[in-house]
Amino acid sequence: MLPYAIDLGNGYTKTSYGNKPRLMPSYVSQVVNESDICDDFGPGGGAFLLYLSGDRHDLIGTKWLLGEAAKISFPATYQRVVEASAGKIEYALQFALSDVLCCHKYQNVTIPALYASLPDPLTDGEKFKKAVLGRHEIQLAHVNSPPDARFHYFVTIENCKILHEGQGAFINAIATGIIPGGVAAGIIDCGSGTTIAQCFSANGHLIPSSRTVSPVGVHHLLKMIATDPRLKERIGGEGNLHLIQQAIEDSSFSYGASNVDIEQIFREHRKVWAQSALRKALEKFSSMKDEIDSILLVGGGAHIVKAICQKSSIILSPNPQTANVMGMARLAELKIARSAA
Ligand SMILES: Nc1ncnc2c1ncn2[C@@H]1O[C@H](COP(=O)(O)OP(=O)(O)OP(=O)(O)O)[C@@H](O)[C@H]1O
Ligand SMILES: [Mg+2]
Repeated sequence: MLPYAIDLGNGYTKTSYGNKPRLMPSYVSQVVNESDICDDFGPGGGAFLLYLSGDRHDLIGTKWLLGEAAKISFPATYQRVVEASAGKIEYALQFALSDVLCCHKYQNVTIPALYASLPDPLTDGEKFKKAVLGRHEIQLAHVNSPPDARFHYFVTIENCKILHEGQGAFINAIATGIIPGGVAAGIIDCGSGTTIAQCFSANGHLIPSSRTVSPVGVHHLLKMIATDPRLKERIGGEGNLHLIQQAIEDSSFSYGASNVDIEQIFREHRKVWAQSALRKALEKFSSMKDEIDSILLVGGGAHIVKAICQKSSIILSPNPQTANVMGMARLAELKIARSAA
């Protein structure tokens, strides 16, 4: 019985099965003919899932590629979770099951409590639970195993707890001593598609009126760079978002095989982008400065806006992209320990 948590993002799905965070791009594709599947699942994380039988009757007999594998096999038709109107619910189970890889090829897996986060648990929490709870018989092939090595599992998700996005990061920060416990704190989550600012009370509850969402995330910065006339001129067209992302993430600022230096373009756009992503958040927090003790920066985009932390009192979370899922995994672990006691 391992603790399990999932944070389904617009850009990346973060899972933690047994305290080990894993990331995969939030791409998905249904598979009609298995012969269309490319053996290469990609280094970015991917899985093949066949739903054999179980409580999700609508999924029986369906096959899925998840993560980078979906994009590699179906470059023209794969879907981003964010593109589906209720993608985080429609694909919740497929992504949740994609990380249940144990050491035995045939196994019963019981998940006593799946912890997940949603932007609006009140509206979508019950739908999410309905999508994941119950018994599921699956076959799974994972990026870390050869594509033809299928694992056969009976997975039972007994319970599901839905938190607000960011709540896990708040709990993780207190548990690891990054921010003090027992006081309210603000969190800025700079993700792929959005930058969300919100405050949590001393007991870890969201203060709804504190929440502001800017529809500006790292994706928009990548797009600004991709369409910059200087880059377009150097490479003869719009830049590839994935190559730009790689160049920023590895801090080489070297674009693709042609090694075009994009550092200057990145720095100029980052300034404008960071202001639009963070403006609402900083305004909100400045109006609440007497109520909050500290402000924590999380999300993959934290790596890019961290420069602002040095100038202000904002605390950069270690491992900001997985902080939320790790906090939820901690709660799942506690729940298992309590039930066993
Ligand atoms: N080391 C890094 N340097 C720069 N950018 C990074 C780094 N690590 C991750 N990112 C960027 O962070 C973004 C993903 O962040 P995150 O996983 O928090 O977003 P998400 O949860 O998928 O999106 P959202 O919260 O909007 O739903 C990606 O665009 C990725 O390029
Ligand atoms: Mg996110």
